[in-house]
Amino acid sequence: MGILSGKKALIVGVASKLSIAYGIAEAFAREGAELAFTYQNEKLQPRVEKFAEQWGSKLTFPCDVASDEEIEQVFTELNKHWDHIDIIVHAVGFAPGHELDGNYVDVTTREGFRIAHDISSYSFVALAKGARDDARRQLTDYSELPGCRAGTAELQRDGAGQSLARG
Ligand SMILES: NC(=O)c1ccc[n+]([C@@H]2O[C@H](COP(=O)([O-])OP(=O)(O)OC[C@H]3O[C@@H](n4cnc5c(N)ncnc54)[C@H](O)[C@@H]3O)[C@@H](O)[C@H]2O)c1
Repeated sequence: MGILSGKKALIVGVASKLSIAYGIAEAFAREGAELAFTYQNEKLQPRVEKFAEQWGSKLTFPCDVASDEEIEQVFTELNKHWDHIDIIVHAVGFAPGHELDGNYVDVTTREGFRIAHDISSYSFVALAKGARDDARRQLTDYSELPGCRAGTAELQRDGAGQSLARG
């Protein structure tokens, strides 16, 4: 029996086999977790659905993490399938392409910096809010669960990401 046997995990950030989220999903599936996925847009949908299927999941939902409405919709839909959620993996990153090319100080703008932080880091908080707002879900930092520390370290060797687990 795997260390995540019986756990339900929402994975956000799979785009390809090279995605950190892909490695995490693979490790989670190997350890017995039940998985659900989001995809950023329609272009990624078929690919993420195919990946999900290989890990025995039919739960895939659209979610641009810049949108609180789309985040809310994910949990509304997930709620129809799961009575709780144990883990959220957030492995998302974005910055405007033209601000990644050239001298950092020259190409970085206030707006580009804001967008990068909104998508790459704030969205983790937005997802946690979306999950928490469902009264049945009480999330705490995964690393705070003593019994889970070894498991966290093991999974991080397969691919690090930010995660939350149910307390
Ligand atoms: N690859 C590395 O070496 C490395 C190192 C340190 C940190 N990171 C960070 O890890 C995270 C994942 O990176 P990765 O290497 O797996 O890259 P990746 O391109 O495979 O994954 C990035 C994911 O972010 C998603 N995404 C971007 N904008 C989004 C939006 N608006 N809404 C929803 N999803 C969105 C993409 O669809 C993709 O699935 C990023 O935050 C990255 O900065 C990566």
